[in-house]
Amino acid sequence: MRMRNLAWLLLVASTLPAQPPSPSPLQNPAASAGQADVVRAQPVGTMSDLMVKIIYPASDAVFYIATREPKTEVEWSELQGKTLALAESANLLLMPGRARDQDRWMQDAKLLLDAGTAAYRAARRKDVAALEAVNDQLLTSCTSCHQHYRPNYGRRPAPDATAPQSARVAPSAPSAPVPLSAPVATTPPAPSIVGRWKLRAAEDLRADGSVARYPWGQHPVGSIVVEGGACYLQIASSDTPSFSGGSTPVMEQMKAALLSTYIAYSGPCAINASEGSVTLKVEAAWRPDYVGTEQKRFFRFQNGALIFGPAPNSMRAGNETLTRRLTLDRVQ
Ligand code: HEC
Repeated sequence: MRMRNLAWLLLVASTLPAQPPSPSPLQNPAASAGQADVVRAQPVGTMSDLMVKIIYPASDAVFYIATREPKTEVEWSELQGKTLALAESANLLLMPGRARDQDRWMQDAKLLLDAGTAAYRAARRKDVAALEAVNDQLLTSCTSCHQHYRPNYGRRPAPDATAPQSARVAPSAPSAPVPLSAPVATTPPAPSIVGRWKLRAAEDLRADGSVARYPWGQHPVGSIVVEGGACYLQIASSDTPSFSGGSTPVMEQMKAALLSTYIAYSGPCAINASEGSVTLKVEAAWRPDYVGTEQKRFFRFQNGALIFGPAPNSMRAGNETLTRRLTLDRVQ
């Protein structure tokens, strides 16, 4: 009876596409010992089943952790189960009969094993920040294997060319869809402003999108940090000339340059993710009249970069109104 079942299962396995007819003796040393009824790991679902019914829903729990933070013991326990399923399903990908080869596939599955393990540990510690931090690693583990082994992956048009994931997924293949697209309708995980951002560009734009001026010169340096409910922003021009000993004292030169070459403020801030805004209660600032004010800034994400600035058309230059645009890259 047992023999018949096994033979039947092997037969079915051999008719499934892309699966070796039976585990090779090398992968299963016991098979070569002639023990026909030795128990072996045996795939039950297809690769697609595994992806759609286990890996994808489990990974969603991690990708959406920022908006679906577990509140109760029960919810934490559920999340722990999902992250465990994610990590353990990597082992299912590694098993004989599923592994498509013994090198690149194994490496790709290992990425999922590592990301899943990190997620499971974080979930056990109930550490939301660590779960958020593992997001990129997890996404990479999906896309890496998909690029190598998923038929037609990356040949369909991207659902949204500005979605940050499409840029992160495959810079070399701009039309790559976000990893979780087919066949389950879903949106990529929402990017978050929380973290450290390094300034790449600061521009004041006209209505037609052309650059009217560079408020801190062509080479601004600075950062925005949004962490633990507080925001810190600092921008300086790196083109400021060194102050030279001349007729004007150095201190006077510095004072004269300061206002046009430097800006910094910080304080508690509240993020409104759906509006794409952050409201900051200024506690410290480079100019005293900023302290105690509320500053509202708007943000969005473009190809993984953060676009940040005050309300559109809120800057004045003569009789023109301009839109300030800061472009920043994530540091952490
Ligand atoms: C080691 C390889 C590997 C890893 C890692 C991997 N996948 Fe897959 N995935 C595949 C292969 C191969 C297919 C194509 C299956 C088929 O169509 O037979 C696939 C297909 C899919 C599909 C489409 C299924 C269908 O029927 O069209 C989804 C959804 C998916 N994967 C989600 C994920 C997610 C989410 C992750 C990461 C958390 C992930 N996968 C990680 C190999 C992998």
